[in-house]
Amino acid sequence: MSESIFEKESKYFFHTFHRLPLEIDRGEGVYLYAKDGKRYLDFFGGLAVNALGYNHPRITAAIEKQIHRYIHLSNYYVQDKTVELAERIIIASGYKRIFFSNSGTEAVEGAIKIARKWGNGLEKIRLLNLTNSFHGRTMGALSLTERPAYREGYEPFLPNTDSIEFNNVEDLRAKVNEQTLGIILEFIQGEGGINVVSKEFAQELKSLQEKFGFLVIADEIQAGVGRTGKFFGFNHYDIHPDIVVIAKAIGGGLPLGVILGNDKVAEVLTYGTHGTTFGGNPVACAAGCAVMEEIVDKGLMKQAGIIGEYLKSKAIELQKQFPAIVKEVRGYGCMLGIDLNRGGQPVVDELLNRGILINCTNTTVLRLLPPYIITPEQCDQLMFELHSILKLLN
Ligand SMILES: Cc1ncc(COP(=O)(O)O)c(C=O)c1O
Repeated sequence: MSESIFEKESKYFFHTFHRLPLEIDRGEGVYLYAKDGKRYLDFFGGLAVNALGYNHPRITAAIEKQIHRYIHLSNYYVQDKTVELAERIIIASGYKRIFFSNSGTEAVEGAIKIARKWGNGLEKIRLLNLTNSFHGRTMGALSLTERPAYREGYEPFLPNTDSIEFNNVEDLRAKVNEQTLGIILEFIQGEGGINVVSKEFAQELKSLQEKFGFLVIADEIQAGVGRTGKFFGFNHYDIHPDIVVIAKAIGGGLPLGVILGNDKVAEVLTYGTHGTTFGGNPVACAAGCAVMEEIVDKGLMKQAGIIGEYLKSKAIELQKQFPAIVKEVRGYGCMLGIDLNRGGQPVVDELLNRGILINCTNTTVLRLLPPYIITPEQCDQLMFELHSILKLLN
């Protein structure tokens, strides 16, 4: 008998991913269809990438149109779709300069390089992060990721880094000084379990940023591009990061990362001091323009906030019904975490049996990252099944 695709996967690939026991045939809107014909309601959205759902007509049309023009030219050329996307993001974000990469982690690497070059000569050398953070898998980004499971065995990391305890204002005050080059943070931590930075912490960060003049680097790779109902997660706070990185949703499913910088860092990179072969690929940027059109021009970002509030209110109802199981509900918009007082994987597995896809992160947190086009009825369906599963566990 011939080997199954799962056997082949296990045989050929480095064992880095626990894949789902599903073989997907196609996706449409918020649904995935497996080859055996079963339909899945997707509250995981390609790990925060598929903000517009699957097979979105504006994205597929933009990609189709671009591939018949040219798929790649190289960064020796100005390319209309790449410039159009840059302009759209600059206008929506209010930042001064942009650089396109291929992934989130590469955008973080670029942000580290900008910070290093900016601090060079200023005697600012220390880069800080928050505990429980996730910034990517390449060595620079991993040096600023405070998740032991991802770091073990890869030492040594970048020197002159340290971690501030999440939301601990005292620790923040104690760890920053004149030598602080920058602080990188997710205002809403994704992999770490949908942990939301407190207003108090953000306010203190802003005061210290003004006092010591270090760079605030916002990692908006998961929370950005409208997911929380605002263009960036940090827009829920009164703070102005100097550098912002986005990725995931911006490429509409194609690999694309973005670094944005304000006036302070606008002139740091000069010709030849940073680069990429594929970053800003015109097909990915054409898809990105379609994403920006839907999210900004057509108001889908606002919708993500509205439907997210609905979903959150339902999750809070669930918490009230099962206080012994649901510890806390956290997040904004279409980025929500339901923190259980036990491992979440059995709940995820049972939902999968019932045709709904969610994810569990940091052991106990059920993570919801639905496409922004999710409807109240689909949210109700998830909550109905969650209610029935938690009742069995109660
Ligand atoms: C907050 C955050 N930063 C960085 C990354 C790394 O992005 P990528 O996987 O595109 O390299 C991720 C990916 O999950 C992320 O959620």
